[in-house]
Amino acid sequence: MTVETYIENHLAPEPEYLQKIARKTNVRLINPRMVSGHLQGRFLKMLTQMINPKNVLELGTFTGYSALCIAEGLSEDAHLHTIEIDDELEDFIRENFASSPFENKITLHIGNALDIIPTLSETFDMVFIDADKRQYWEYFEAVLPKVRQGGFIIADNTLWNGKILQPIQHGDNQTCAIIEFNDLISKDNRIEQVILPLRDGLTIIRKK
Ligand SMILES: C[S@@+](CC[C@H](N)C(=O)[O-])C[C@H]1O[C@@H](n2cnc3c(N)ncnc32)[C@H](O)[C@@H]1O
Repeated sequence: MTVETYIENHLAPEPEYLQKIARKTNVRLINPRMVSGHLQGRFLKMLTQMINPKNVLELGTFTGYSALCIAEGLSEDAHLHTIEIDDELEDFIRENFASSPFENKITLHIGNALDIIPTLSETFDMVFIDADKRQYWEYFEAVLPKVRQGGFIIADNTLWNGKILQPIQHGDNQTCAIIEFNDLISKDNRIEQVILPLRDGLTIIRKK
């Protein structure tokens, strides 16, 4: 047994509607591994409960798995905005939100996060960045002014399957961008940050 399997075996259970979304994602979509999954999903819920945000923003909804984990951790009066660029996913996402108890806590925006972020009037207590890896720095710069002082930005996939340590393959813009993001974040005195080696790397950033 691997440590990962051991952890999964001792984790809080995954709600049935999330199990169904993960299964449907596997059957219907070509990139099902993009879903946060059981461990990271439970962590996102717990992190949300710890931060207790009133307004949350997610970049990169995909099939809605992580959005629903965050929504599960929200208090009664809190709300999540989530942005997905792929309009072909819209019906699937809405169907998944409707299958959960949290449909009313989530607003889905279809479009490019970089176009939609400037139109949002909210101040956010927590932001989850999980969209195009090549644009992580742009997302960060776009959301930082909208995050309250002491608020949190969580960036997914910042260890990028260990590729951040390996020689970069020609044309691998995603790895280049993640490396650049990690370097810029580590030198930025507007924030403090820690990279957690959870799943594919999760950077927790706090705005000073
Ligand atoms: C890794 S998946 C998100 C997974 C999801 N957060 C989860 O854990 O279940 C990344 C998603 O970001 C979307 N995306 C990519 N670029 C985007 C952009 N500029 N604005 C909004 N969404 C984007 C992709 O279409 C894809 O569905």
